[in-house]
Amino acid sequence: MRMDEFEFTKIAGAVLSALLLIFGTRTIIDMTVGHTHQKPGYTLPAPTETAAKGGATAEAAAPAGETPDEAAKKVMALLPKANAENGKSIFKKCHACHVAEKGKKPTVGPNLWDVVNRKRASYPGFAYSDAMKAKGGSWSFDELAKFIHSPKTYIPGTKMVFQGLPSESDEADVIAYLATLADTPVPLPK
Ligand code: HEC
Repeated sequence: MRMDEFEFTKIAGAVLSALLLIFGTRTIIDMTVGHTHQKPGYTLPAPTETAAKGGATAEAAAPAGETPDEAAKKVMALLPKANAENGKSIFKKCHACHVAEKGKKPTVGPNLWDVVNRKRASYPGFAYSDAMKAKGGSWSFDELAKFIHSPKTYIPGTKMVFQGLPSESDEADVIAYLATLADTPVPLPK
């Protein structure tokens, strides 16, 4: 019996130290791992904050879905401080289809010299779409803003195959540049 008791104590002791070893190790692991996890744990709110600011992110992505009217409102607000120099470099996108020098023959699109306040669809010798001819009116800053934001949305049936400028500030800048292209440049709205 004594031997059994001794054996039992030995076994119990072994089990106990094994358990201690396991829990002890786990605790150490938990502590270290816990600490390394702590950081990602704390950075987690960051994506949430970004998501909260995501209002802004979502807004930045919104212009594509904006109506021409909504976009034009923003463009008109930016226009007084628009940068025609920057607009000149953005105009490279337009230059694929438009010349903008006085008297030059139109290419894919009409010549855009003196386009601000010009009657719509009126450049001599250019074959406009029926949709463009039917629209009437003239190219005020506001009209340009609506059209350049999304040509197909604003004038369905236009043959200007261009998806539009997604950035309102780019749009304001390019319109400010167009305003310089005239014998008497059109002053930007105040
Ligand atoms: C892929 C060719 C293409 C590109 C790129 C393009 N346009 Fe056009 N654009 C056209 C065509 C074609 C028309 C004539 C549309 C019609 O008759 O429906 C036109 C018409 C216009 C008109 C109307 C002019 C008028 O005489 O009534 C304006 C303004 C205009 N484009 C501005 C721009 C601006 C600004 C850009 C650059 C941000 C640009 N376009 C990019 C092809 C293009």
